[in-house]
Amino acid sequence: MKRKWNCGNIVYSYCTEADLSDIASMLAKQNVCEYLFFGPNKEEDTLAYFSPLINSISESLKANNIPDMHVFTIREKDSGVFIGQCALLPIEFTNGNYLIGYQIDDTQWRKGYGSAACEFLTYFAFSVLSAFRITGDCAEGNIGSEKTMIKAGFKPEGQQKRYWSKNGKWHDRLLFGLTTEDISEEKLEILRSKYD
Ligand SMILES: CC(C)(COP(=O)(O)OP(=O)(O)OC[C@H]1O[C@@H](n2cnc3c(N)ncnc32)[C@H](O)[C@@H]1OP(=O)(O)O)[C@@H](O)C(=O)NCCC(=O)NCCS
Repeated sequence: MKRKWNCGNIVYSYCTEADLSDIASMLAKQNVCEYLFFGPNKEEDTLAYFSPLINSISESLKANNIPDMHVFTIREKDSGVFIGQCALLPIEFTNGNYLIGYQIDDTQWRKGYGSAACEFLTYFAFSVLSAFRITGDCAEGNIGSEKTMIKAGFKPEGQQKRYWSKNGKWHDRLLFGLTTEDISEEKLEILRSKYD
């Protein structure tokens, strides 16, 4: 099983322990977590959440199996500079349906990395995992997140009222989806040609 995918000067690699301090620094930031249902996190909370995920991914890869969880670190290929992370998490009882997620570090915003991450997850879900559907969500008002999904072809699927409560404020949840019926074989072929 491959561990890294390159696209221009971006590399997506299955998350390892070596990535944890960069991830913890990012998720400790107020602005990064403004629209997330969690955080900002203390370092120990981030480590407690990610360590079992990373161990499970590492065990699967060692056995040459496809992991159940797909958590990737995004870095600049040449410099190794941390950009962020993205993930595809299986949705229970719906085999082949994955929830997407990504966080880009605030030093890297508005450079196209969020859109690139969404496109990578689309490629990975449909071409590597043979998904039938990917599901996305964001808090209402998270314009950057909404735009990255729409640009990748996701369709809006509705709005759930008062879905998250954070810091005493209610947030609606916006839903998005992309199914194999929405994405043509030509588009998938273009995506496949982008990653090596
Ligand atoms: C949301 C997020 C992923 C966007 O990443 P990014 O790398 O800045 O996105 P891109 O550079 O690909 O921008 C995509 C589009 O969104 C727009 N955009 C990005 N951030 C924006 C913001 N805060 N407000 C309005 N528009 C924004 C960009 O201008 C671009 O628009 P365009 O295509 O019309 O030019 C990033 O801000 C982030 O990680 N935020 C914190 C975590 C988070 O909210 N993750 C999503 C959880 S659902």
